[in-house]
Amino acid sequence: MNRQRPIGFLDSGIGGITVLKKAVELLPNENYFFFSDSANNSYGDKSDGEIISRCTEIVNCLTVQKDCKAIVIACNTASAKAVKSLRANFDKIPIIAIEPAYKMVHDLRPKGATLIMATKGTISSEKFRRLYYSYYNHNTVIHSCVGLADLIEQGRDKEICDYLEKNLARYKGRAENVVLGCTHYPLIKAQIRKTLGDVTFFDGADGVSKRLKFLLEESNMLSDNQNGGEIEFCDSSPDDDMKKAKKERFFKLLNEDNI
Ligand code: DGL
Repeated sequence: MNRQRPIGFLDSGIGGITVLKKAVELLPNENYFFFSDSANNSYGDKSDGEIISRCTEIVNCLTVQKDCKAIVIACNTASAKAVKSLRANFDKIPIIAIEPAYKMVHDLRPKGATLIMATKGTISSEKFRRLYYSYYNHNTVIHSCVGLADLIEQGRDKEICDYLEKNLARYKGRAENVVLGCTHYPLIKAQIRKTLGDVTFFDGADGVSKRLKFLLEESNMLSDNQNGGEIEFCDSSPDDDMKKAKKERFFKLLNEDNI
C-alpha cells in the first residue's frame, strides 16, 4: 500500500484552491493533484445529469491514471449533485465532499442574521434542501449568485464589485454572517466586505480538511513522508494559453496568505 499516492481535488475551475490550501495547512506531507475543469466551467447552471457524468469522468481519471488514494470534491455544486453517484461508483476510496457551512452557523450560533451565498445548482439541490431544513434558524436568507463564480474564475474584478453592489447591497446591515457556499467565493472576501461591511464568514473548507485527515488516519493511509508533499495542477481547457494562464494563477494563489 503506497501512502504517498496523491489526494485528488476537483472543481469546475480554480476556486477549489480555497479548500486545497486548508488541506495543505493540515496535511503538508501529502501529495496533491488538482483538476480544474475549465473546459466545462461553470457548473452552477448545468443539469444534474451533466455534472454527474462529467465528475464521473474526472474521478475515473484521478483514480485510474493518477492513482489517487482519496478524492476531495472541492466544489459545492458538484458535491450537491454528484456525490451520491460518485460514492456508489467509486466505493474503494474515500470521497470527501464540501457543502455550505450552514451547520457551522447552527453549532456556533453567532449573533444576527445569516446570508447563504451559493450557485443556483447548489441551492436547487435536494442535498442543500436537506441541509437547510436540518439547521434552519428562522433568521436566514439565501441568495443564488448566478454567474458570480464565472466572474471570479475569469478574474474580472470590476465586474465582481458591480455584481456584488447590484445583488448584495440590499443585505447590508441586515446580515452579519455570510455562508460562502461556493469554493470560489472565499477568493473575494475583501470585495464582499466592501459591499456588506464587517460580516463573519462561514466556509466549509476547514471541515473538509479535518474529515480528510480523519479518514486517511483511520485507514492508515496518511503519508509517511516528512519533507513536505508536492502539488500538481491540471486544467481541462483545450486552449494552451488558457491552460498556462490557469496554472500560473493557481500557483500564485497558492502562495498568497490572505485566502
Ligand atoms: N466552485 C464551484 C462551487 O463551489 C463553482 C461552481 C460553478 O462552476 O458554477 O460551487
